[in-house]
Amino acid sequence: AGEGKIADHEFGFEGIFGTIDRAAAQRGLQVYNEVCAQCHSLKRVAFRSLKDLGYTEEQVEGIAAQYKVTDGPNDQGEMYERTAEPKDFFPEPFKNDKAAAAVYGVAPPDLSLMTQARPDGANYLYALLTGYEEAPEDFDLPQGAYYNTAFPGHAIKMPAPLSDGQVNYQDGTEATVAQMAHDVTVFLHWAAEPHMEERKRMGIGVVLFLLVFTGVLYATKRKIWRDLH
Ligand code: HEM
Repeated sequence: AGEGKIADHEFGFEGIFGTIDRAAAQRGLQVYNEVCAQCHSLKRVAFRSLKDLGYTEEQVEGIAAQYKVTDGPNDQGEMYERTAEPKDFFPEPFKNDKAAAAVYGVAPPDLSLMTQARPDGANYLYALLTGYEEAPEDFDLPQGAYYNTAFPGHAIKMPAPLSDGQVNYQDGTEATVAQMAHDVTVFLHWAAEPHMEERKRMGIGVVLFLLVFTGVLYATKRKIWRDLH
């Protein structure tokens, strides 16, 4: 066994002034759509919230239309598949966890809250996606598992999802494993906490307000007690 190794990777969303890099998040969505969605779900994220990443209504409709969702029951009492719409959530690629586990031995977890669910989540996710290596000679790798430096115990059932040049970025960014890992982590960080920027802005506003208010109170106090020293 052994604990996973997690290095500190630099992200633009860190710190109290940190924001989501929209271009990186959009590239990350592309990685999610083309790679991760084959096995994972993102069922707490609605397509319509992608507008927050800078997409227009039409673009959001186009992204949703790449997915099928199960709806119903209809008048005949049956469930049916239809093309996803902005109001829908990112669907699950498998019918249920059992069907997913049948393929990989363990069901790929939902990624909606992944950067919050694991300690040091964003750094962990980046380290996990870039952490595939040849297992050391003395390591007993179980059947159907892959060696990963970041995963606790180092034997993970997820095959290395990324390889250089796997996606074709429209903005010309070179799709190295490290770049795609960074981008999809930014996207998933946004997905897990879509209101992060608002929360930080509010916090900064509150602190500024308290500073000004303290000044006003102090000036008022001086004025009121001016004749009394
Ligand atoms: C597990 C991310 C693509 C199959 C995981 C975990 C994360 C993750 C964060 C949880 C690790 C943990 O438990 O700490 C991603 C991302 C992907 C991606 C960001 C796209 C870049 C894929 C693909 C497959 C897959 C394409 C299937 C071929 C699995 C499986 C597990 C898993 C089976 C469970 C592993 C275990 O617990 O041993 N993935 N994944 N993933 N993923 Fe992925």
